[in-house]
Amino acid sequence: MLIHVLGAGAGGGFPQWNCNCQNCDGLRKGTIKATKRTQSSICVSSDGVHWVLFNTSPDVLQQIQNFPPLQPGRAIRDSGISAIILIDAQIDHTTGLLMLREGTQKRELYSTDMVYQDLTTGNPLLKILDHYCGINHHEISTDGKTSFEIPQIENLTFTAVVLKSAAPPYSPHRNNPHPGDTIGMLIEDKKTQKRLFYAPGLGEIEPHLPPLFKKADCIMVDGTFWTNTEMIDMGLMTKKARDIGHNPQSGEGGMIEVLDRYPQAKKVLIHINNTNPILREDSKERAILTEHGIEVAYDGMDIVL
Ligand code: MLT
Ligand code: MN
Ligand code: ZN
Repeated sequence: MLIHVLGAGAGGGFPQWNCNCQNCDGLRKGTIKATKRTQSSICVSSDGVHWVLFNTSPDVLQQIQNFPPLQPGRAIRDSGISAIILIDAQIDHTTGLLMLREGTQKRELYSTDMVYQDLTTGNPLLKILDHYCGINHHEISTDGKTSFEIPQIENLTFTAVVLKSAAPPYSPHRNNPHPGDTIGMLIEDKKTQKRLFYAPGLGEIEPHLPPLFKKADCIMVDGTFWTNTEMIDMGLMTKKARDIGHNPQSGEGGMIEVLDRYPQAKKVLIHINNTNPILREDSKERAILTEHGIEVAYDGMDIVL
């Protein structure tokens, strides 16, 4: 399985256009050791020709330009993206769909029914796309047992699990969470027998998750915040990390403590908010991650399983 990180940043990217936190300001001025990151997305393939795009970031056009396999140029209109899977309906994971509107062939789109509802009501992106390329929607089951395969994507099987996270602010059920608002995905390569568990939005480690972590060769999870009160401490938001669906790295029950239980897996944090000190490569927080064998995803990162 080939995994390519197209964008490792959280919503807003790094630096964020209106942000002058220590990280964003330092990156612009060149005074910190860090690299810029576009908004959260990965693509996965087994043959290196046909790719599944996970989420469609507002930065998708730049991300495609940065990764030539997604533009193989075999015909007058062509793409290496065979299908798109959405793990939630958040702005940073979906609005890039509008940038992929050209062409007469429908986009093959996989999401839960909850995400489909949000994207046809509160934020009716999919209805807008019907006036352009159109979409062929495939509903992802959230029972945690039903795996699916995708035409053209040979050798890979996909199994979704429901996660506790928050539906977007525009969702008709924002304050009334439903299973399927956010999912994680176990991706298995039948040829190499390797497994990736991918969950860029993960607010709580519920009992159904450890068995999946245990059988994963790579765990790529939510790296949004270092502390639960990061945004409050910086005066940027009134909500805690866990309240907006992101389990922080440090502290009791944090991602470091969780990931320490799975020595068999390569551990990678993704969807990193621009305020997070782990973005500074020489920070003490980054050194702690390194001590625990946890990597920080960056745009262009390649993983082969
Ligand atoms: C999130 O991950 O919590 C959201 O994407 C935040 C946002 O809308 O940028
Ligand atoms: Mn996000
Ligand atoms: Zn910032």
